[in-house]
Amino acid sequence: MAAERFVIRGGRALAGEVSVFGSKNAATKAMIASLLTDEPCTIANIPRSQEVAITTELCERIGSNVAHGLDHFCSIETPEVRVTSVLGLSRRNRIPILAIGPLLHRRGEAEVPFLGGDPIGHRPIDFHLEALSRMGAKIERRADSYYAKAARVRGAEISFPFPSVGATESVLLTAVLAEGDTLIENAAVEPEVLNLIVMLTAMGALISCDADRRRIEIRGVVRLSGVRHRVIPDRNEAVSFAAAALATGGDVLVRDADISHLGAFLDVLQELGGGVRQEQEGLRFIGAPAWRNTVIRTAPHPGFMTDWQQPLSILLTKAEGASIIHETVYEDRLGYLKDLARMDARVTVSDECLENSPCRFAGRTFNHSARIEGPSRLKGAEIAITDIRAGMAHIIAALAAEGESVISGVEHIDRGYERLDDRLRALGADIQRIAE
Ligand code: EPU
Repeated sequence: MAAERFVIRGGRALAGEVSVFGSKNAATKAMIASLLTDEPCTIANIPRSQEVAITTELCERIGSNVAHGLDHFCSIETPEVRVTSVLGLSRRNRIPILAIGPLLHRRGEAEVPFLGGDPIGHRPIDFHLEALSRMGAKIERRADSYYAKAARVRGAEISFPFPSVGATESVLLTAVLAEGDTLIENAAVEPEVLNLIVMLTAMGALISCDADRRRIEIRGVVRLSGVRHRVIPDRNEAVSFAAAALATGGDVLVRDADISHLGAFLDVLQELGGGVRQEQEGLRFIGAPAWRNTVIRTAPHPGFMTDWQQPLSILLTKAEGASIIHETVYEDRLGYLKDLARMDARVTVSDECLENSPCRFAGRTFNHSARIEGPSRLKGAEIAITDIRAGMAHIIAALAAEGESVISGVEHIDRGYERLDDRLRALGADIQRIAE
């Protein structure tokens, strides 16, 4: 596919209505969960993002018949696992490792490539590998892959050093068909993880989740059946559209935004000065003439999500005084602020915990804290984006800025958002997609 760029002329207030599509980070996991059964599964509310396309390719390689229908429906059935090595797939996302559990159950072995995904930190997979080993898998690191083998997969007691979304999902996808019981302590309880639990339970899995205590118990069963499942609305899309509406001084109804997934975001919005109203069909975001400064500390759910600080940073450039972003989930997720500075934002990034409350990165050399002084008038610029959420921040900055911005690396946006440019244009944005 030819590389594409967005050309954005900023300064237009967004107005109208936009629907939030299904969560890519829940949809891709649901597709992997379908590999646990040979019966047909139907998954509703699947977004048509590139991340879903990559996962479709992965499942098809393994042996699934996948049909994406109209209206975001996907039927997926894997009567037989034809291939247990998905090595041929390049390092394009973080999903293949989740297929290890299902492949071990169906065929006793799995080989997956090293993981790709956004360059936002070191992103190790040691928690996944350690947990799978405890459950009986023998894992070998090869030149370009991990090879796992298990004659029997058994339950285990697992306690994560940090509540990792992916590692919690890995264990869930392995424990549901394991012999005996599994206990996950310090589990991730993100809405996407809970959505996976809903699907697995409907397939016949026995899972009890105490989200407040971050404890998940799984009793292995012998087989799982097909299911009809619905993917939750994408809370990252909801926040992205909200931030775009607010930063441009607009008025946008974000339909289908699930307020129960957005608590920490809405709390920060109150500190900034409001601008949200709940309506029957969703949440309406209305720009304000001035914003107050605030402190954002990212954290696992129910904290303020790490994927939200980038879109919100644009509002912080508009707030009166100094705001702080303290990123405590990924060690290297503030690189995009350099480019924001080129758009005339006043930003300094530090390896200290600027918020006065140290996190696990304290005393290390990671630039994980930022001070943003506002208010600034942003100017258009040429920006090359390198990851989904940072890319979204640059798009929002460009929409709010004076003048023209040219944004390359659009493929990162297409991985996470379906037809973002069309949907922004429908809200009045001046955004064009052009071939490089
Ligand atoms: N971690 C380890 N070892 C592991 C696994 C994780 O040290 O084995 C660390 C990570 O390095 C990171 C922290 O634990 O510092 C949290 O990582 P987590 O495993 O929770 O993240 P993930 O599962 O790889 C998912 C989403 C991310 C989202 C995070 C946090 C998918 C495909 N990705 O990543 O989404 O930011 O959870 O909620 O579900 C995005 O959509 O743009 C995106 C990056």
